[in-house]
Formats: sequence, C-alpha cells, structure tokens
Amino acid sequence: MANENVWTRKHLIGIEELSREEVEMVLDTAPQFLAVQDRESGIKKVPLLQGRLIANLFMEPSTRTRISFELAAKRLSADTLTFSASSSSTKKGETLHDTLANIEAMKTDLVVIRSPFAGAPALLTESHTSNIINAGDGYHEHPTQALLDTFTMRQHIRKLREDDTATLDGVRVALIGDISHSRVARSNIWALKKLGASIILCAPETLIPMNIQKMGVEVTSNLKEAMTDADVVYALRIQMERQASSLFPSLREYIRLFRVDNESLKHAPDNALIMHPGPINRDIELASDVADCNRSLVLEQVSNGVAIRMAVMHLLANSAQPTDQE
Ligand code: CP
Repeated sequence: MANENVWTRKHLIGIEELSREEVEMVLDTAPQFLAVQDRESGIKKVPLLQGRLIANLFMEPSTRTRISFELAAKRLSADTLTFSASSSSTKKGETLHDTLANIEAMKTDLVVIRSPFAGAPALLTESHTSNIINAGDGYHEHPTQALLDTFTMRQHIRKLREDDTATLDGVRVALIGDISHSRVARSNIWALKKLGASIILCAPETLIPMNIQKMGVEVTSNLKEAMTDADVVYALRIQMERQASSLFPSLREYIRLFRVDNESLKHAPDNALIMHPGPINRDIELASDVADCNRSLVLEQVSNGVAIRMAVMHLLANSAQPTDQE
C-alpha cells in the first residue's frame, strides 16, 4: 500500500491491488511527462532514469504498448532492450524464468512483460529482482492501458466541466464489446470503480463473464440502454484470436446490434467521449467514420500512454523500498 503521497510498490501487476490514492498518484504524475513530450524546444527527454537498463519482453504481438514503453524509457534517458517471443530462445524451449534470469544477469533494472498467460508477470516477481511491469497478461489485466484510459477520461471531463480538479466520481462509462476476453475491460473496471465512476457493460450474453455484476457494474445486451446517459462510450475489440468457438451468430449480427456508429450514437449524449484501446477492427466494433471523428480520443489515448508509462517507470524505479509488494 502507498503511504500518503509516497509510492511504495516495486511492481505494477494489476489495478485490482492498487488503492484509489495509488491510481491517482500515477494520474497526477503523468502531466509533467506530457509537458516533456510537448516541449517547444523539441527536446523530449529528461535524465530521470539515466544509466538504468529497461528490458521490454513481448511474448505476444503488440504495436501501441511495446512502442509506447520503449519510447517512455528512452524519454526518461534509460537504456533499452526490446525483444519478442519470435526472436528469443523461448522458441527453442527456454522457460520464461530462465529467459528473465539471463536478462537479469546483464543487470536490468526494470522489466516490462506482455504474456499470453494470465499470472505470468506476478509469478516472475517471486523469484526475480527487477521491477516488473505487466504490459498485458492473458485475460487478466492490462494496468497501464486502464491508467492511460482513465487519465484521458479525466482530462476531458475536466475540460468539459471547465474544472481542473474534476474527478471521475459519478462519470458514467459504457464499455461495449468483448468483455469476456478483455484484460483491458477488467483493468478499466477496477480503475473506474476505484475512481468512483459508474460502469455499464454491453455485449452479447456469451461475451459477458458470469457473475461480473459482483464487481459493481451494470450489465445489458441493449446498446441503446448502454449509451443513454453515457459520458464515455468505450468500444472494445472483438478478440477473434481468443475465441475458441464463435460466441455470436455472425459478424453481421454483431454489427447490427453492438457496433458503435453514428446510428447507435444517436442514443448517447452529443458530447459523449468515444474511446477504443486499439487495435481497431474497423467497421466491426467501431465505425471508421466514428473512429476518425473529432469526438474520438483514440489517438489521444496513445499519446497519453507514453506519459503514463513514463510516470509508472519513474514511480517504480524510485519507490520507497522495501515495505511494498503485492
Ligand atoms: N492497446 C493495446 O494493448 O494495443 P497493442 O496490443 O498494440 O499493444
């Protein structure tokens, strides 16, 4: 747990175990790093992690998260190593523990890991010395995605309300799409609940986990109901690669009932924010013209992601040890 205004965790594995204060500490640390990437001088670097070695270990495909972590590390002046499953010796049967032990033998300070296996990053914290950041593990969590999403929501709610202290308390967020297979949904639910938002999930019944209401969310399969009164309409990717069998009758049926498009958005308030974590299946869960419209925050989420990841790396690398741990 965090003491007041002091970050004490060594690792970032999930949002579930964070307190509201810890989530807010990351969100409140990010603006100074946003300012770095927007500097008029064009010099987008600070020396906060100079001399530290950060390894990005991606065992699953990624565009945004991998590049964002790499860029965040470089902007903090750290040295970086980035490698993927296809180019590492895990292809030859080496275990993840052995891979990490070998990386640590080269004196890494911080390891960012994306794994197809839920729980893999947490397991690695038990026997390795580096700070570990979960960059997405199976269906479990994608904590930095939820942090950048809630940061982006809060930033826009503050603009809309012309109040730079506004919080997400009472803000209504509709999460629409493949909830069952989504670590992004799970991390966002944890983060939004901690920050006081109200959440409605919308998907075909087959894409909603059993008993998810226990997390304190509303659930519907009616898109109109989900959109009504939503401050944020957040579309989730249909994860074809994670579905063992087709969980809805056809894509055409899914699009008719669940796509976020100009027609369905008529049910949402005119100023509802539109978000998606990427990668987008264009014209399936999100219509192309909506993804690209001026209400869409999709690319702003990506920009904010670098600042959030700089904030996370900075806090972990300078955490007050050793009173922490999940
Ligand atoms: N949002 C997200 O995690 O995207 P990538 O899979 O491209 O990293």
